[in-house]
Amino acid sequence: MAARVSAADGAAAVPGGAAAAVSAAGGEASVFLAACRRQPVRHRPIWIMRQAGRYLPEYRALREKVDFATLTRTPELAAEVTLQPLKRFALDAAILFSDIMTPLQGMGVELDFVPAPVVRAPIRSVAQIEALPALVPARDVPFVLETLRLVRRGLPRDVPLIGFAGAPFTLLCYLVCGRPSKEFAAARTFLYAQPQAAQQLLTHLAEAMAQYLAAQAEAGAQALMLFESWAGLLGQREFERFALPAVRRTVARLRSAGVPLIYYVNDGAALMSTVAGLDVDVIGVDWRLDLGAARRILGPEKAVQGNLDPAALFAPPEELRRHADAVLDAAGPAPGHIFNLGHGIWPDTDPQAVARLVDHVHERDPGA
Ligand code: CP3
Repeated sequence: MAARVSAADGAAAVPGGAAAAVSAAGGEASVFLAACRRQPVRHRPIWIMRQAGRYLPEYRALREKVDFATLTRTPELAAEVTLQPLKRFALDAAILFSDIMTPLQGMGVELDFVPAPVVRAPIRSVAQIEALPALVPARDVPFVLETLRLVRRGLPRDVPLIGFAGAPFTLLCYLVCGRPSKEFAAARTFLYAQPQAAQQLLTHLAEAMAQYLAAQAEAGAQALMLFESWAGLLGQREFERFALPAVRRTVARLRSAGVPLIYYVNDGAALMSTVAGLDVDVIGVDWRLDLGAARRILGPEKAVQGNLDPAALFAPPEELRRHADAVLDAAGPAPGHIFNLGHGIWPDTDPQAVARLVDHVHERDPGA
C-alpha cells in the first residue's frame, strides 16, 4: 500500500498551494480540500462513500457486540469506526460515522435500524410536522459533536474530516414513507396531495440540517456534505419546486462556516443543469452519468466527486484499473475532481479491491 504523502511533501508540489490549501480549521496541504476548491493537486484525492461499514471485518467484529444505534451514539466507538478505513487504506478524507437519520432521532423521531432506518410513526399530517421540535445540536446530538472532536485528534493533519447530513427532501422521503422503498410512493403523493405541508416540513428540515451542519463545522468538520440520495425520484419541475429551495436554504446558512460544501445528487443525470446554480463547491455524481458530461453541464465553477460504479469493485484487478482510469479520464485533467464511488460501497466488497483502487488512483498522474 502506498504510504500517505506528508504535508511537507505536498506543500512543495502544489503550485501556490501550500498556503491556499491551509483551511482555517487545519487540514494543511490536503489534496481533498484543494480539489474541493478546484486547486491543482499532486494526485487525485479519493475517499469512498460508506467507507466505514460492513465490508470491513473489523467493523463487523464490533457490530457483533454493539448495535448500530449504540455505535453512532457512543463517541469513542463512532470515532473508532470512522478511523477504521483510514488505518487500512491511504484515503484522502475521513467521513463521520453516523447516519442521515441520527439528527432526526435527536429531534424525537423514533426509529429502528434493521439495518436500514424504519420510522415507527411516519409523518403524514400538519399536526405531526408542527410537533417536530427545532434541532439544538449541543443538546440533542452531543455525541455526534464529541465524535468529531475525537476523530480530529486521531487524524493526520493532511487528512480532513467530512461532516454530513441528509438533504431535506431525502429526509422527507424517509419521514413520510417510514422506510426505504423503490418508488417512495407515500412521499411522492404527499408532495402532490399536501404541497403546503410538504413545504412546511422541508423548511423545518432545511433549518434543522443547517444548525446540525454548522455545529459539525464548529466541532471540527472541515467539509460538509449533503446527501440527496433520492433525487432521482423527482421530475425536474418537482425537484425545482420542493427539493432545490430547501437545499438552497440549508447551504445559504452554511456559507459563513468557511468550509467546502458538497451536494451529492444520486440518480441526478437529468438534474445537473438545475443543480449547477446551487452555491456549493462540489457536486457528487452517481455512476450513471459520464463525469465529462457532468463537468460540461456544471461549468468551471464546480468541482465534481465520483463516480465509479460500486459494482466495478467486483471486477478482476486489471479490469478494475481500467474502469478507474475511465473515471479519471472522463473527469479530465482540470483541477476539481475527487475520486469516489457513484454510491455507497456494497457490504460484500473485498477490502483488497479497495486497497488496489486507492493505490491505483494515487499512482496515476492527474494529468496523464
Ligand atoms: O460513508 C460513511 O462511511 C459514513 C457513514 C454513513 C452511514 N450512513 C453508515 C451506515 C453515511 C454517510 C450514511 C448516510 C446514509 N444513510 C444515507 C445517504 C447515503 C446513501 O447511501 O445514499 C442513506 C440513504 C442512509 C439511510 C440508511 N442507513 C440505509 C439505507 C441503511 C441500510 C444500508 C445498508 O447497506 O443496508 C442505513 C444503515 C447504515 N448506515 C449502515 C451503515 C454502516 C449499516 C448498519 C449496520 O451496520 O447494520
